[in-house]
Amino acid sequence: MSTGRARYALDAREAEQAAPARAEPRLAGRLIALGACGSIAAYKAVELVRLLRIEGAEVVVMLTPAATQFVSPLTLAALSRHAVETDVLGLLPDQRIGHIVIADSADAVVVAPATARWLGAMANGIASDAVTAACLTTSAPVVFCPAMDGDMWTHPATRSNVERLQRDFGYVMVPPDTGELASGQSGIGRLAELSQIVDAVVATIGARPVRQADPAARPPEVPAPREQDLEGRRIVISAGGTAEPIDPIRFIGNRSTGKMGVAIAEAALARGAEVTLVAGRVEVGLPPNARLVRAESTAAMREAVLDAVFAGHADALIMAAAVADFRPRQAADTKLVRDGALTLELEPTEDILAEVGARAAALDPRPVIVGFAAETGSLDRAPDKLRRKGADLLVANDVAEAGSGFGSDTNRVVILGADGTRDELPLLTKRQVAERLLDRVASTLDARGAPAHTGATIRESP
Ligand code: CTP
Repeated sequence: MSTGRARYALDAREAEQAAPARAEPRLAGRLIALGACGSIAAYKAVELVRLLRIEGAEVVVMLTPAATQFVSPLTLAALSRHAVETDVLGLLPDQRIGHIVIADSADAVVVAPATARWLGAMANGIASDAVTAACLTTSAPVVFCPAMDGDMWTHPATRSNVERLQRDFGYVMVPPDTGELASGQSGIGRLAELSQIVDAVVATIGARPVRQADPAARPPEVPAPREQDLEGRRIVISAGGTAEPIDPIRFIGNRSTGKMGVAIAEAALARGAEVTLVAGRVEVGLPPNARLVRAESTAAMREAVLDAVFAGHADALIMAAAVADFRPRQAADTKLVRDGALTLELEPTEDILAEVGARAAALDPRPVIVGFAAETGSLDRAPDKLRRKGADLLVANDVAEAGSGFGSDTNRVVILGADGTRDELPLLTKRQVAERLLDRVASTLDARGAPAHTGATIRESP
């Protein structure tokens, strides 16, 4: 189904696709912080973001207050897919201080255009805007690209500030060009050609290793506006860990925080799905637009999932919950007292995913069924798990690996398909993993046809 294709918002991808692609992006994996100051040339920052992204860089933009008069933070946010820092006191959505996170994670800070005021502020360490504050904080190389009126450029104050930045701070300058200026006169002071600025950035950082590869340590990417490719789809998502009571106070639980399942729910809602979130024990905020069903024990989760999938005619089930494999055969009615050793007899729980997989086989169209497999050390068992549980997709990860697993904001996963596909994703934020998974769910649903709640029938036995 592709109902919302016309609703594509301003999307940097379109611009990138229109541009001729370089064979080898020279800034792949890099984070470039672009600071723009209040010159008429600030509008060129828009094109510079695009060129840096074509070279493979992730770009985060900072504007001085004056620059916001020349170029819209919204335009730059849409193109860079990051919130634009316009205030030295600005906080990221996760409450970290914007210019500090940028300074600590950027491979280079590029100041383009750099105005006479900024050169003076920077030369004297006056951190009254986000651009200067980030430059003062960072240990990354700084490339600055002056643009101003010719008389300003030749003024002794500007000359000495430029010299100080180069000589004392080791900053790299891309000098201004000669040509027509905003005043209508011709002379020196035009911002250098953008391709020259990109080349200078490449030359400055090319030989250095990537400074901060962990996406969670970088400023968060704002997901690109996407088409509503799950509009009208009913998706059931389980999240968090189950708790199996031992007595009224104690339970057997696990380390799941629910971050992955909640990230999938948020992404699915943003793509237009009707989401039923079956939540076990979770440690993160839950999306207000989802239909929420609380289910702490495996038995309660089974009931909630079966009801939402079958009575609710769901189009897809994504079992991101960490479900207990065993529970105490008998939960005590009153608190167990400490009186020597305690032996608990455990019984296996029902396998919710396998039960949905088996029962869904009778439906046409069949809901798309997604399982997760948290493994330690090797993912060898994952293909068998996919088959055993009748899933269409299985998201497998090694929870022992750094940056993956419980409580982490990132995850490195492999998505296995029942059709034999194996998609090894790089280390991504959980939201990015969610988007990639939903891409697969959406395309599988498209291939299967109409939403289940409008078209599902029980398939006749042969
Ligand atoms: N799952 C489930 N019901 C259970 C156990 C697991 O629905 N009782 C689901 C999980 O939500 C997950 C998938 O099955 O989507 C795989 O879970 P996992 O614990 O890795 O698999 P198990 O079947 O428990 O296999 P094992 O413990 O042998 O790894």
